[in-house]
Amino acid sequence: MPKKQIHLAAHFPGVNNTTVWSDPESGSQTDFASFVAFAQNAERGLFDFLFLAEGLRLREHQGRIHDLDVVGRPDTFTVLNAIAAVTTHLGLGGTINTTFNEPWELAKQFASLDHLSGGRAAWNLVTSSDAFTGENFRRGGFLDPAQRYDRAQQMLDAARELWLADGRPVDHHSDQFDVVGTFPIPPTPQGHPVLIQSGDSDQGREFGAKTADAIFSRHGSVEAGQEFYRDLKGRMAKYGREQSEITILPATTFALGDTPEEAAENGHRIRTAQVSPQTAIAFLEQVWGRDLSAYDPDGPLPDIDPDPGAQITRGRVRHEKDPLAVAQRWRELAEAKGGLSIRELIIETTARQSFVGTPKEVARQMDDYVQADASDGFILVPHLTPGGLDEFVEKVVPELQDLGSYRTGYTGPTLRDHLGLREPA
Ligand SMILES: Cc1cc2nc3c(=O)[nH]c(=O)nc-3n(C[C@H](O)[C@H](O)[C@H](O)COP(=O)(O)O)c2cc1C
Repeated sequence: MPKKQIHLAAHFPGVNNTTVWSDPESGSQTDFASFVAFAQNAERGLFDFLFLAEGLRLREHQGRIHDLDVVGRPDTFTVLNAIAAVTTHLGLGGTINTTFNEPWELAKQFASLDHLSGGRAAWNLVTSSDAFTGENFRRGGFLDPAQRYDRAQQMLDAARELWLADGRPVDHHSDQFDVVGTFPIPPTPQGHPVLIQSGDSDQGREFGAKTADAIFSRHGSVEAGQEFYRDLKGRMAKYGREQSEITILPATTFALGDTPEEAAENGHRIRTAQVSPQTAIAFLEQVWGRDLSAYDPDGPLPDIDPDPGAQITRGRVRHEKDPLAVAQRWRELAEAKGGLSIRELIIETTARQSFVGTPKEVARQMDDYVQADASDGFILVPHLTPGGLDEFVEKVVPELQDLGSYRTGYTGPTLRDHLGLREPA
Protein backbone atom coordinates (compact mmCIF):
# COMPACT_ATOMS: atom_id res chain seq x y z
CA MET A 1 0.00 0.00 0.00
CA PRO A 2 1.35 3.48 -0.78
CA LYS A 3 2.37 5.44 2.30
CA LYS A 4 0.19 8.22 3.63
CA GLN A 5 1.64 11.44 2.26
CA ILE A 6 2.72 14.33 4.51
CA HIS A 7 1.35 17.82 3.82
CA LEU A 8 3.42 20.84 4.77
CA ALA A 9 2.50 24.50 5.06
CA ALA A 10 4.73 27.39 6.10
CA HIS A 11 3.60 30.09 8.50
CA PHE A 12 5.18 33.50 7.98
CA PRO A 13 4.98 34.84 11.53
CA GLY A 14 4.11 38.48 12.14
CA VAL A 15 3.60 38.47 15.89
CA ASN A 16 4.08 36.07 18.84
CA ASN A 17 7.19 35.19 20.77
CA THR A 18 7.90 32.23 18.45
CA THR A 19 10.02 34.55 16.34
CA VAL A 20 13.26 35.48 18.05
CA TRP A 21 13.63 39.07 16.92
CA SER A 22 16.76 39.58 18.98
CA ASP A 23 18.63 37.02 16.84
CA PRO A 24 21.11 38.77 14.52
CA GLU A 25 19.77 36.62 11.65
CA SER A 26 16.25 37.97 12.09
CA GLY A 27 15.05 40.14 9.24
CA SER A 28 12.02 42.29 8.56
CA GLN A 29 8.38 41.19 8.83
CA THR A 30 7.20 44.00 6.56
CA ASP A 31 9.83 44.17 3.81
CA PHE A 32 8.59 42.41 0.65
CA ALA A 33 12.03 40.85 0.17
CA SER A 34 11.38 38.83 3.36
CA PHE A 35 8.14 37.47 1.96
CA VAL A 36 9.78 36.62 -1.36
CA ALA A 37 12.67 34.77 0.26
CA PHE A 38 10.34 32.85 2.58
CA ALA A 39 7.77 31.96 -0.08
CA GLN A 40 10.25 30.93 -2.74
CA ASN A 41 12.00 28.69 -0.27
CA ALA A 42 8.70 27.06 0.77
CA GLU A 43 7.99 26.46 -2.91
CA ARG A 44 11.44 24.92 -3.39
CA GLY A 45 10.43 22.60 -0.56
CA LEU A 46 7.23 21.71 -2.47
CA PHE A 47 5.02 22.99 0.37
CA ASP A 48 1.24 23.01 -0.08
CA PHE A 49 0.82 26.62 0.99
CA LEU A 50 2.14 29.68 2.74
CA PHE A 51 0.04 30.84 5.65
CA LEU A 52 -0.56 34.30 7.10
CA ALA A 53 -2.29 34.91 10.42
CA GLU A 54 -4.30 38.05 11.15
CA GLY A 55 -4.64 40.41 14.10
CA LEU A 56 -7.11 43.26 13.94
CA ARG A 57 -5.69 45.31 16.77
CA LEU A 58 -2.40 45.62 18.62
CA ARG A 59 -2.47 43.51 21.75
CA GLU A 60 -2.58 45.18 25.14
CA HIS A 61 -1.26 43.85 28.39
CA GLN A 62 -2.18 45.61 31.62
CA GLY A 63 -3.61 48.50 29.62
CA ARG A 64 -0.46 49.11 27.58
CA ILE A 65 0.51 48.04 24.07
CA HIS A 66 2.20 44.68 24.47
CA ASP A 67 5.70 45.43 23.24
CA LEU A 68 7.50 42.17 24.00
CA ASP A 69 6.63 40.77 20.58
CA VAL A 70 7.17 42.72 17.40
CA VAL A 71 3.65 43.66 16.37
CA GLY A 72 2.02 44.58 13.14
CA ARG A 73 2.08 43.23 9.62
CA PRO A 74 0.95 44.28 6.17
CA ASP A 75 -2.52 43.50 4.85
CA THR A 76 -3.08 39.84 4.01
CA PHE A 77 -4.57 40.26 0.52
CA THR A 78 -1.89 42.71 -0.55
CA VAL A 79 0.85 40.34 0.56
CA LEU A 80 -0.72 37.21 -0.94
CA ASN A 81 -1.39 38.85 -4.30
CA ALA A 82 2.18 40.10 -4.42
CA ILE A 83 3.56 36.65 -3.54
CA ALA A 84 1.41 35.15 -6.29
CA ALA A 85 3.55 37.06 -8.77
CA VAL A 86 6.86 35.60 -7.56
CA THR A 87 5.76 31.96 -7.15
CA THR A 88 4.09 29.45 -9.47
CA HIS A 89 2.69 26.57 -7.39
CA LEU A 90 2.70 27.53 -3.72
CA GLY A 91 -0.79 27.86 -2.20
CA LEU A 92 -1.58 31.24 -0.63
CA GLY A 93 -3.55 31.04 2.60
CA GLY A 94 -4.70 33.97 4.68
CA THR A 95 -6.68 34.43 7.88
CA ILE A 96 -9.64 36.76 7.40
CA ASN A 97 -12.25 37.44 10.02
CA THR A 98 -15.92 36.65 9.41
CA THR A 99 -17.47 38.90 12.06
CA PHE A 100 -16.48 42.38 10.92
CA ASN A 101 -16.43 41.89 7.15
CA GLU A 102 -19.07 41.64 4.44
CA PRO A 103 -19.43 38.57 2.19
CA TRP A 104 -19.53 40.45 -1.11
CA GLU A 105 -16.25 42.21 -0.37
CA LEU A 106 -14.46 39.08 0.80
CA ALA A 107 -15.82 36.95 -2.04
CA LYS A 108 -14.46 39.53 -4.48
CA GLN A 109 -11.03 39.63 -2.84
CA PHE A 110 -10.64 35.83 -2.65
CA ALA A 111 -11.96 35.33 -6.19
CA SER A 112 -9.42 37.89 -7.40
CA LEU A 113 -6.59 36.15 -5.56
CA ASP A 114 -7.67 32.79 -6.97
CA HIS A 115 -7.66 34.19 -10.52
CA LEU A 116 -4.39 36.08 -10.24
CA SER A 117 -2.61 33.10 -8.69
CA GLY A 118 -4.00 30.49 -11.07
CA GLY A 119 -6.00 28.69 -8.37
CA ARG A 120 -3.89 28.91 -5.25
CA ALA A 121 -6.10 30.83 -2.77
CA ALA A 122 -7.08 29.63 0.72
CA TRP A 123 -9.18 31.36 3.37
CA ASN A 124 -8.74 30.69 7.08
CA LEU A 125 -12.13 31.73 8.43
CA VAL A 126 -11.85 32.99 11.99
CA THR A 127 -14.54 34.45 14.18
CA SER A 128 -12.44 36.60 16.57
CA SER A 129 -14.42 35.97 19.72
CA ASP A 130 -12.80 38.94 21.42
CA ALA A 131 -14.94 42.12 21.28
CA PHE A 132 -11.80 44.20 21.94
CA THR A 133 -10.68 43.57 18.37
CA GLY A 134 -14.07 44.79 17.10
CA GLU A 135 -13.90 48.23 18.66
CA ASN A 136 -12.16 49.66 15.62
CA PHE A 137 -15.15 48.82 13.41
CA ARG A 138 -18.34 50.78 12.99
CA ARG A 139 -20.45 48.30 14.91
CA GLY A 140 -18.00 47.97 17.81
CA GLY A 141 -17.64 44.65 19.61
CA PHE A 142 -20.64 43.26 17.71
CA LEU A 143 -22.16 39.82 18.33
CA ASP A 144 -21.92 37.51 21.25
CA PRO A 145 -19.22 34.84 20.81
CA ALA A 146 -21.95 32.17 20.76
CA GLN A 147 -23.41 33.71 17.59
CA ARG A 148 -20.18 34.17 15.73
CA TYR A 149 -20.16 30.80 14.02
CA ASP A 150 -23.72 31.43 12.81
CA ARG A 151 -22.46 34.51 11.10
CA ALA A 152 -19.39 32.64 9.81
CA GLN A 153 -21.66 30.01 8.26
CA GLN A 154 -23.95 32.65 6.75
CA MET A 155 -20.92 34.54 5.45
CA LEU A 156 -19.63 31.41 3.77
CA ASP A 157 -23.03 30.50 2.30
CA ALA A 158 -23.35 33.97 0.79
CA ALA A 159 -19.77 33.99 -0.50
CA ARG A 160 -20.25 30.56 -2.06
CA GLU A 161 -23.33 31.71 -3.90
CA LEU A 162 -21.36 34.66 -5.29
CA TRP A 163 -18.37 32.53 -6.31
CA LEU A 164 -20.57 30.03 -8.11
CA ALA A 165 -23.01 32.58 -9.61
CA ASP A 166 -21.29 32.61 -13.01
CA GLY A 167 -23.10 35.73 -14.18
CA ARG A 168 -26.51 34.77 -12.80
CA PRO A 169 -28.28 37.20 -10.45
CA VAL A 170 -27.83 36.57 -6.72
CA ASP A 171 -30.71 36.97 -4.29
CA HIS A 172 -29.44 35.84 -0.90
CA HIS A 173 -31.08 36.50 2.45
CA SER A 174 -30.19 35.37 5.98
CA ASP A 175 -30.24 36.83 9.52
CA GLN A 176 -26.99 38.64 8.86
CA PHE A 177 -26.90 39.34 5.15
CA ASP A 178 -29.01 40.52 2.27
CA VAL A 179 -27.07 40.30 -0.95
CA VAL A 180 -28.97 41.18 -4.07
CA GLY A 181 -27.33 41.80 -7.42
CA THR A 182 -24.64 40.27 -9.58
CA PHE A 183 -21.05 39.29 -8.90
CA PRO A 184 -18.61 40.89 -11.29
CA ILE A 185 -15.93 38.17 -11.24
CA PRO A 186 -16.12 35.04 -13.43
CA PRO A 187 -15.78 31.57 -11.83
CA THR A 188 -12.25 31.05 -10.58
CA PRO A 189 -9.78 28.22 -11.27
CA GLN A 190 -10.59 26.46 -7.97
CA GLY A 191 -14.34 27.22 -8.05
CA HIS A 192 -13.75 28.82 -4.71
CA PRO A 193 -10.79 29.10 -2.37
CA VAL A 194 -9.69 26.23 -0.18
CA LEU A 195 -11.32 26.71 3.23
CA ILE A 196 -9.26 26.50 6.40
CA GLN A 197 -10.71 26.51 9.91
CA SER A 198 -8.83 26.99 13.16
CA GLY A 199 -11.39 27.56 15.96
CA ASP A 200 -11.14 24.92 18.65
CA SER A 201 -14.38 25.20 20.64
CA ASP A 202 -17.12 22.63 20.13
CA GLN A 203 -18.81 25.05 17.71
CA GLY A 204 -15.53 25.67 15.92
CA ARG A 205 -14.87 21.96 15.45
CA GLU A 206 -18.40 21.41 14.16
CA PHE A 207 -18.01 24.27 11.67
CA GLY A 208 -14.70 22.76 10.55
CA ALA A 209 -16.14 19.25 10.16
CA LYS A 210 -18.97 20.62 8.05
CA THR A 211 -17.11 23.09 5.85
CA ALA A 212 -13.32 23.00 6.01
CA ASP A 213 -10.82 21.56 3.56
CA ALA A 214 -7.99 21.97 6.07
CA ILE A 215 -7.77 22.52 9.82
CA PHE A 216 -5.04 24.56 11.48
CA SER A 217 -4.85 22.97 14.92
CA ARG A 218 -2.76 23.47 18.01
CA HIS A 219 -2.79 19.90 19.33
CA GLY A 220 0.82 18.93 19.54
CA SER A 221 1.67 15.64 21.23
CA VAL A 222 0.94 12.35 19.47
CA GLU A 223 -1.82 11.50 21.98
CA ALA A 224 -3.48 14.94 21.89
CA GLY A 225 -3.12 15.02 18.12
CA GLN A 226 -4.74 11.60 17.71
CA GLU A 227 -7.59 12.57 20.01
CA PHE A 228 -8.27 15.77 18.08
CA TYR A 229 -7.94 13.95 14.74
CA ARG A 230 -10.46 11.27 15.77
CA ASP A 231 -12.85 13.85 17.19
CA LEU A 232 -12.76 16.20 14.21
CA LYS A 233 -12.86 13.54 11.51
CA GLY A 234 -15.51 11.65 13.50
CA ARG A 235 -17.82 14.65 13.14
CA MET A 236 -17.71 14.62 9.32
CA ALA A 237 -19.96 11.64 8.49
CA LYS A 238 -23.13 13.41 9.57
CA TYR A 239 -22.42 16.06 6.93
CA GLY A 240 -22.00 13.37 4.28
CA ARG A 241 -18.26 13.90 4.06
CA GLU A 242 -15.34 11.49 3.72
CA GLN A 243 -12.54 11.79 6.30
CA SER A 244 -10.01 12.29 3.51
CA GLU A 245 -11.70 15.58 2.57
CA ILE A 246 -10.04 17.35 5.50
CA THR A 247 -6.30 17.79 6.00
CA ILE A 248 -5.38 18.35 9.65
CA LEU A 249 -2.28 20.46 10.20
CA PRO A 250 -1.04 21.33 13.70
CA ALA A 251 1.40 24.20 14.23
CA THR A 252 4.87 22.76 14.68
CA THR A 253 8.40 23.94 15.29
CA PHE A 254 11.70 22.19 14.78
CA ALA A 255 15.36 22.40 15.77
CA LEU A 256 18.11 20.72 13.78
CA GLY A 257 21.72 19.76 14.41
CA ASP A 258 24.42 17.59 12.84
CA THR A 259 24.30 15.34 15.91
CA PRO A 260 21.46 14.62 18.35
CA GLU A 261 23.38 16.51 21.06
CA GLU A 262 23.85 19.59 18.89
CA ALA A 263 20.14 19.53 17.95
CA ALA A 264 19.10 19.29 21.61
CA GLU A 265 21.39 22.21 22.41
CA ASN A 266 19.91 24.27 19.55
CA GLY A 267 16.39 23.40 20.67
CA HIS A 268 17.14 24.53 24.21
CA ARG A 269 18.80 27.74 23.03
CA ILE A 270 15.80 28.61 20.82
CA ARG A 271 13.21 27.97 23.56
CA THR A 272 15.20 30.03 26.06
CA ALA A 273 15.39 32.93 23.59
CA GLN A 274 11.64 32.66 22.85
CA VAL A 275 10.70 32.91 26.52
CA SER A 276 12.64 35.84 27.98
CA PRO A 277 12.24 36.57 31.73
CA GLN A 278 9.72 39.35 30.88
CA THR A 279 7.79 37.10 28.49
CA ALA A 280 7.58 34.43 31.20
CA ILE A 281 6.06 36.89 33.68
CA ALA A 282 3.65 38.26 31.03
CA PHE A 283 2.41 34.73 30.26
CA LEU A 284 1.93 34.04 33.94
CA GLU A 285 0.01 37.30 34.36
CA GLN A 286 -2.35 36.28 31.55
CA VAL A 287 -3.40 33.22 33.54
CA TRP A 288 -3.30 34.84 36.97
CA GLY A 289 -5.08 38.03 35.82
CA ARG A 290 -2.81 39.98 38.20
CA ASP A 291 0.29 42.13 38.10
CA LEU A 292 3.12 39.73 38.98
CA SER A 293 6.05 42.00 38.16
CA ALA A 294 7.35 41.68 41.73
CA TYR A 295 7.97 37.94 41.22
CA ASP A 296 11.35 36.54 40.21
CA PRO A 297 11.10 34.69 36.86
CA ASP A 298 13.78 32.32 38.13
CA GLY A 299 11.85 31.69 41.35
CA PRO A 300 8.80 29.53 42.13
CA LEU A 301 5.19 30.10 41.05
CA PRO A 302 3.22 32.63 43.14
CA ASP A 303 1.31 31.09 46.04
CA ILE A 304 -1.63 33.48 45.55
CA ASP A 305 -4.44 32.20 43.31
CA PRO A 306 -5.45 33.64 39.93
CA ASP A 307 -8.25 36.18 39.77
CA PRO A 308 -10.72 34.22 37.61
CA GLY A 309 -12.69 37.26 36.44
CA ALA A 310 -9.78 39.48 35.37
CA GLN A 311 -8.80 40.06 31.76
CA ILE A 312 -5.34 41.52 31.87
CA THR A 313 -4.44 40.82 28.24
CA ARG A 314 -6.56 41.92 25.30
CA GLY A 315 -6.34 40.90 21.68
CA ARG A 316 -4.75 37.50 22.19
CA VAL A 317 -6.73 34.30 21.58
CA ARG A 318 -7.39 32.68 24.96
CA HIS A 319 -7.25 28.92 24.75
CA GLU A 320 -7.53 28.37 28.49
CA LYS A 321 -10.94 29.13 29.90
CA ASP A 322 -10.47 28.22 33.59
CA PRO A 323 -7.47 29.98 35.20
CA LEU A 324 -7.83 28.31 38.60
CA ALA A 325 -7.62 24.87 37.01
CA VAL A 326 -4.62 25.95 34.92
CA ALA A 327 -2.83 27.26 38.03
CA GLN A 328 -3.49 24.00 39.84
CA ARG A 329 -2.16 21.99 36.91
CA TRP A 330 0.94 24.16 36.60
CA ARG A 331 1.71 23.90 40.33
CA GLU A 332 1.53 20.11 40.11
CA LEU A 333 3.67 20.05 36.99
CA ALA A 334 6.32 22.36 38.52
CA GLU A 335 6.54 20.12 41.55
CA ALA A 336 6.55 16.85 39.60
CA LYS A 337 9.48 18.14 37.52
CA GLY A 338 11.58 18.83 40.61
CA GLY A 339 10.57 22.45 41.30
CA LEU A 340 10.50 24.34 38.01
CA SER A 341 10.98 28.10 38.10
CA ILE A 342 8.37 30.40 36.53
CA ARG A 343 10.43 30.74 33.35
CA GLU A 344 11.15 27.01 33.12
CA LEU A 345 7.47 26.26 33.57
CA ILE A 346 6.40 28.71 30.86
CA ILE A 347 9.04 27.27 28.52
CA GLU A 348 7.59 23.84 29.20
CA THR A 349 3.88 24.69 28.97
CA THR A 350 3.92 27.04 25.98
CA ALA A 351 6.01 24.71 23.82
CA ARG A 352 4.32 23.57 20.65
CA GLN A 353 4.98 20.20 19.14
CA SER A 354 8.65 20.46 18.30
CA PHE A 355 10.74 18.03 16.33
CA VAL A 356 14.34 18.08 17.51
CA GLY A 357 17.17 16.05 16.03
CA THR A 358 19.35 15.48 13.01
CA PRO A 359 17.52 15.99 9.69
CA LYS A 360 17.12 12.20 9.37
CA GLU A 361 15.68 11.90 12.88
CA VAL A 362 13.31 14.83 12.38
CA ALA A 363 12.04 13.33 9.12
CA ARG A 364 11.50 10.00 10.83
CA GLN A 365 9.67 11.60 13.80
CA MET A 366 7.39 13.59 11.50
CA ASP A 367 6.64 10.55 9.39
CA ASP A 368 5.83 8.42 12.45
CA TYR A 369 3.53 11.18 13.70
CA VAL A 370 1.57 11.38 10.46
CA GLN A 371 1.45 7.63 9.87
CA ALA A 372 -0.01 7.29 13.42
CA ASP A 373 -2.87 9.62 12.37
CA ALA A 374 -1.92 12.31 14.87
CA SER A 375 -2.21 14.69 11.87
CA ASP A 376 -1.99 14.77 8.07
CA GLY A 377 1.01 17.07 8.10
CA PHE A 378 2.15 20.29 9.71
CA ILE A 379 2.10 24.05 9.58
CA LEU A 380 5.73 24.84 10.26
CA VAL A 381 6.39 27.93 12.33
CA PRO A 382 10.10 28.73 12.15
CA HIS A 383 11.76 30.80 14.85
CA LEU A 384 13.53 33.07 12.36
CA THR A 385 11.97 35.32 9.74
CA PRO A 386 12.60 35.03 6.86
CA GLY A 387 15.37 32.38 6.81
CA GLY A 388 14.05 29.93 9.39
CA LEU A 389 12.82 27.36 6.89
CA ASP A 390 15.92 27.24 4.70
CA GLU A 391 17.70 24.49 6.60
CA PHE A 392 14.50 22.45 6.80
CA VAL A 393 13.96 22.62 3.05
CA GLU A 394 17.58 21.78 2.25
CA LYS A 395 18.04 18.97 4.74
CA VAL A 396 14.74 17.51 6.01
CA VAL A 397 12.67 17.56 2.81
CA PRO A 398 15.06 15.15 0.98
CA GLU A 399 14.91 12.80 3.99
CA LEU A 400 11.10 12.85 3.91
CA GLN A 401 11.25 12.08 0.20
CA ASP A 402 13.60 9.13 0.89
CA LEU A 403 11.03 7.79 3.34
CA GLY A 404 8.46 7.82 0.52
CA SER A 405 6.01 10.03 2.36
CA TYR A 406 6.61 13.36 0.64
CA ARG A 407 6.10 14.48 -2.95
CA THR A 408 9.07 14.89 -5.28
CA GLY A 409 7.24 17.38 -7.48
CA TYR A 410 3.94 19.24 -7.64
CA THR A 411 1.33 17.14 -9.43
CA GLY A 412 -0.97 19.99 -10.46
CA PRO A 413 -1.18 23.74 -10.56
CA THR A 414 -3.83 24.44 -7.89
CA LEU A 415 -3.85 24.22 -4.10
CA ARG A 416 -6.78 21.81 -4.38
CA ASP A 417 -4.45 19.56 -6.42
CA HIS A 418 -1.75 19.71 -3.71
CA LEU A 419 -4.28 18.77 -1.03
CA GLY A 420 -5.87 16.06 -3.18
CA LEU A 421 -9.28 17.77 -3.04
CA ARG A 422 -12.09 17.67 -5.53
CA GLU A 423 -13.60 20.76 -7.11
CA PRO A 424 -16.37 22.16 -4.90
CA ALA A 425 -19.88 21.14 -5.98
C1 LIG B 1 -3.96 27.29 15.61
C2 LIG B 1 -4.87 28.47 15.66
C3 LIG B 1 -4.55 29.62 14.93
C4 LIG B 1 -5.37 30.76 14.96
N1 LIG B 1 -5.04 31.87 14.26
C5 LIG B 1 -5.82 32.99 14.33
C6 LIG B 1 -5.48 34.20 13.65
O1 LIG B 1 -4.49 34.28 12.94
N2 LIG B 1 -6.29 35.28 13.80
C7 LIG B 1 -7.42 35.25 14.56
O2 LIG B 1 -8.11 36.24 14.64
N3 LIG B 1 -7.77 34.11 15.21
C8 LIG B 1 -7.01 33.01 15.11
N4 LIG B 1 -7.37 31.86 15.79
C9 LIG B 1 -8.63 31.87 16.54
C10 LIG B 1 -9.76 31.27 15.88
O3 LIG B 1 -9.68 30.70 14.66
C11 LIG B 1 -11.16 31.38 16.43
O4 LIG B 1 -11.82 32.35 15.73
C12 LIG B 1 -11.19 31.71 17.89
O5 LIG B 1 -10.39 30.80 18.56
C13 LIG B 1 -12.59 31.62 18.43
O6 LIG B 1 -13.15 30.40 18.13
P1 LIG B 1 -13.13 29.15 19.09
O7 LIG B 1 -13.78 29.60 20.36
O8 LIG B 1 -13.90 28.12 18.32
O9 LIG B 1 -11.70 28.74 19.29
C14 LIG B 1 -6.56 30.73 15.74
C15 LIG B 1 -6.88 29.58 16.47
C16 LIG B 1 -6.06 28.46 16.44
C17 LIG B 1 -6.46 27.24 17.22
